[in-house]
Amino acid sequence: MKLGVLLIVIMSFFACSEDKPSAQGEWIVGEEKEKITTIETQFRGFDMTMVETGYRYQELYWAGQDENWEYAQYQIQKIRKTINYGLQRRPKRSESAQHFLDVSLPEMERAIDLKDTVEFDNSFNLFTNACNNCHTKEQVPFFSVQTPTIRQSPIRLK
Ligand code: HEC
Repeated sequence: MKLGVLLIVIMSFFACSEDKPSAQGEWIVGEEKEKITTIETQFRGFDMTMVETGYRYQELYWAGQDENWEYAQYQIQKIRKTINYGLQRRPKRSESAQHFLDVSLPEMERAIDLKDTVEFDNSFNLFTNACNNCHTKEQVPFFSVQTPTIRQSPIRLK
């Protein structure tokens, strides 16, 4: 009798786990693992981190030229954030990014806090070198970053 009850409990457990509905999106479908792989692929790798960094780097430069220090602070924070997220996706890039994150980025932040255009420009040159150093370390020296010359941003002080 006891064994019968136990069997029913075990059978109903398996029945439940088979019926367990698996949430499917419009196009994120399949087994759990497949769905996670789809999401990870769509998040992309370090390339999108760098597209964002390239944009924010330009914005940072023009913010400094405008002496729009709040906007400059905003952009440097987002550069830190996007690179950290990118390294979470591509940890093998971490070693090359270490000097940039520990030294170059804090130095740029310090210059922004000084609210001084000369300090800003000097640090921005070093910051640019730091971008290129990582590109060399990562064997992509053809991404040669240079100080922006043309302004595309719609964000500017009157
Ligand atoms: C981890 C070190 C690292 C740092 C720090 C770094 N980059 Fe990159 N960057 C890369 C790598 C690696 C690629 C190539 C990405 C790929 O192949 O997926 C790249 C590519 C780029 C690209 C091309 C992106 C594209 O797909 O069109 C731009 C623009 C760029 N970086 C700008 C910058 C700027 C500006 C800085 C500094 C503020 C910077 N990078 C700092 C590693 C770095």
